Amino acid sequence: MSEQIKGYAYGQVGQSPVSIADLELLKKTVLFTSEDEKNLRLAGEVLKDQTNEVLDLWYGFVGGNEHLVHYFTRNGQPNMDYLTAVRARFGQWIMDLCNRPYGQDWLNYQHEIALRHHSSKKNKTDGVDTVPIIHYRYMVAFIFPITATIKGFLAKKGHSAEAVEAMYAAWFKAVTLTVILWTYPYITKGEF
Ligand code: HEM
Repeated sequence: MSEQIKGYAYGQVGQSPVSIADLELLKKTVLFTSEDEKNLRLAGEVLKDQTNEVLDLWYGFVGGNEHLVHYFTRNGQPNMDYLTAVRARFGQWIMDLCNRPYGQDWLNYQHEIALRHHSSKKNKTDGVDTVPIIHYRYMVAFIFPITATIKGFLAKKGHSAEAVEAMYAAWFKAVTLTVILWTYPYITKGEF
């Protein structure tokens, strides 16, 4: 149950500086349509009992790369409680990306997650003292692994190649949109 995920605050955070009108234009720019919405709902169905396997793969990738696991460390030591707490919210994010309507609450929570990666709010939710910011370059770089690795999971429930491709494209657009919103705090005021 989402209410029991530590630090998960969907619907309870401050207002995003990005307007719904600007979100609509961004959606238009990444060619995100109501078809993509439908395909994301289907992806949500397909992924809902596979989130642990997805997270194992992503955490394996982070854990296997010193420059990435770095962001969960203090003095070079990974904080296991922090990794575990974030993992639970990450699992919920997969479901939210697929199922939540992209309205004001969604927009607000994207800004909250943006702040949580940025020095504004990293570490605060879990009360830890690991490195203070996830560098911008890796936020953008993650679009590819978070997208490419999902395809195999989308194909696991017997859907046609065409249906898998449509879910995959919708996922790619949704992740791109998300990461754009998550980079807001990194950009000079007035230049986002
Ligand atoms: C937090 C996903 C990029 C490390 C989170 C959360 C999610 C997430 C869903 C939890 C949000 C919440 O609190 O509700 C993603 C996605 C990324 C991305 C989809 C890019 C496509 C990165 C990168 C790193 C990273 C590049 C570096 C290794 C972390 C850390 C936290 C976190 C350390 C905890 C932040 C805190 O202190 O609250 N991420 N992330 N993330 N992510 Fe990412």
